[in-house]
Amino acid sequence: MENSTMLEEMALRALDEIACSKAMTELEEIRIRTLGKKGELTGALRSMKDIPEAERPPFGKRINEIRDQLTEALDKKILEIKQADKVVRLKEEAIDITLPGHKQRIGGLHPLTRIYYEIRDIFVSMGFEVMDGPEVEYDKYNFEMLNIPKDHPARDMQDTFYVSNDIVLRTHTSPVQIRTMLKQDPPIRMICPGRVYRSDDVDATHSPIFNQVEGLVVGRGISFAHLKDTLDRFLKEFYGEATKTKFRPGHFPFTEPSAEVDATCAKCAGKGCGVCKGTGMIEVLGCGMVHPSVLKGCGIDPDVYTGFAFGLGLDRLATIKYGITDIRLLFENDIRFLSQFK
Ligand code: DAH
Repeated sequence: MENSTMLEEMALRALDEIACSKAMTELEEIRIRTLGKKGELTGALRSMKDIPEAERPPFGKRINEIRDQLTEALDKKILEIKQADKVVRLKEEAIDITLPGHKQRIGGLHPLTRIYYEIRDIFVSMGFEVMDGPEVEYDKYNFEMLNIPKDHPARDMQDTFYVSNDIVLRTHTSPVQIRTMLKQDPPIRMICPGRVYRSDDVDATHSPIFNQVEGLVVGRGISFAHLKDTLDRFLKEFYGEATKTKFRPGHFPFTEPSAEVDATCAKCAGKGCGVCKGTGMIEVLGCGMVHPSVLKGCGIDPDVYTGFAFGLGLDRLATIKYGITDIRLLFENDIRFLSQFK
């Protein structure tokens, strides 16, 4: 067949294919096949040497026209396909803003954490420092240096988890008093929150793990009056200004004298109810003047310095404050219970 006829047919076929193609890859194939370095148009240019010289200029011109025509058709089609793709993509990515959203559950602080933060803020505002101590503790700090020697009957008060002969899970936060006095000279004014352990069976009022906040003040001329006023002030800040306090004689081996403190029942405001068993008052903490031999054991001269200490049960304060009747609720982490404290 004549070269120019072949050229025209090739051009028509390519234009037809371009018009029908639906994907960029197809267009790229057509481009390479027709306009590429080894493509059909280049082939046609090469074949010029085989045609009579007079026909060469119009043939060459026609090749250039076809090249422009194909290039234009390809560019137009590429644009069309890109636009069509965009329409599809926009449709796919469309967001139905009328759909209801997923509700985010907002967490809250655990009631024990809330209570602790309140207590901490009150004592920090009075100039107390917050200390920390280990839960796995030396027998020496948990008992002996607190005036509770081995075989002392006072150990019966606290059923202890022993890790070894000399190491226990602390039964109270009081060993942090010892740690503080060993490393810090008076004046000392600190509180220490933390978990404590006793081998109690679990019931509505007992748990083998519970939480305390310890307090210690040591300095020159610290008296029982300071102890009374500090704890009275604390309980008024915590339960409300109308709160009354009552200091009853008590006994702790590491304090002398010792006292147990009752505060106006938060539930009935002193009228008498089930929580306070009709007395209008409820026991909230233990305290006393640091025993001279405890001071001495920590290298503090009891003739120069005196101090007071107190310990309160965080779980107890939380159950009283929130009217919680079963202490287990504080440890089971049931979301239905916890989500009420926000
Ligand atoms: N450690 C005592 C307990 O767990 C509480 C306590 C009482 C701590 C009197 C004190 C204190 O610091 O002075 O029962």
